[in-house]
Amino acid sequence: DEPLKVVLLGSGTVGTQVARLILEHGDDFAARIGRPLELIGIAVRDLSRQRPGLPAGLFTDDPQGLIDRGEADIVIELIGGIDPARQLILSAIEHGASVVTANKALLAAHGEEIFDAAELAGVDVYYEAAVAGAIPIIRPLRESLVGDSIRHVMGIVNGTTNYILDKMTTEQTDYEAALVQAQDLGYAEADPTADVEGYDAAAKAALLASLAFHTRVNGDEVHTEGITRIVQDDIRAARDVGCVVKLVAIAKQLDDDQISVRVHPTLIPLGHPLAAVGGAYNAIFVEADAAGRLMFLGPGAGGAPTASAVTGDLVTVARNRARGVAGPNQTIYNELRVADMGAV
Ligand code: HSE
Repeated sequence: DEPLKVVLLGSGTVGTQVARLILEHGDDFAARIGRPLELIGIAVRDLSRQRPGLPAGLFTDDPQGLIDRGEADIVIELIGGIDPARQLILSAIEHGASVVTANKALLAAHGEEIFDAAELAGVDVYYEAAVAGAIPIIRPLRESLVGDSIRHVMGIVNGTTNYILDKMTTEQTDYEAALVQAQDLGYAEADPTADVEGYDAAAKAALLASLAFHTRVNGDEVHTEGITRIVQDDIRAARDVGCVVKLVAIAKQLDDDQISVRVHPTLIPLGHPLAAVGGAYNAIFVEADAAGRLMFLGPGAGGAPTASAVTGDLVTVARNRARGVAGPNQTIYNELRVADMGAV
């Protein structure tokens, strides 16, 4: 069978692992898809960096040139940030490629443009890795629970800040030292401001709220407060009242036309399941009318866990393509208003 051609944009912590998984598990993937995958190019920022085990001939520092060859069936975008990721994804879609991305910031800011372009072109945009690393949460909201009515989504969706708060709580590590550890472990964004100021969690909250309520929430509509002002005194004061401090994202239906979407440090009682979520783990509660309460828990950041979600999307998108179909679209059929913080 003719291979499905794959282009990878970005070769950082996640991208390198994705490339390895594609090369090492090619036969398994081919069996699951029904056609082989062929990695035809990897766009990187720095061509001089050593990447052991990956064929040197695949690398280029011209991502737009790689896309404009027009050969790719699937483009995996792991560059992050808005530019040039936005233009590269739109070009890929124009060339008829399906897209797999982990880029929550981009989708939370320009999701409408990207999903509309994909719908028009009849291609897929899958982004399981954009929220909560290895944890399947996009697909459950987009597919498994699409027959239910979701009322409430709440959880820990940023590994870096959870790691920092956990270290500050259990080992009395100071904030700066814990942040450096989280960066060394590959949890933090390229600019960790996005993690500690809550912007990363806000982007994820926007994506979750959009899916849960079939509406469009942009990252900048989410009330956002990070953890930069949390000090040991706050952690101790929380402990004195039987609580821990967690950065929590909440999306909740207030009434028929309003939702509340917010991210802020929250006091969690020690007996609550979220209190026990340590390290870079994430956890998300979903409450739906018929399903009741569901909890999703697992590694929320880091190269390998995020690469698992990316390759899951890759295989799914490739399967769709091999059958000539596209997965579920992002049709918006509720225009809900995001309430200001007064109404929570
Ligand atoms: N910087 C993010 C986090 C990576 O710490 O959760 C996963 O999106």
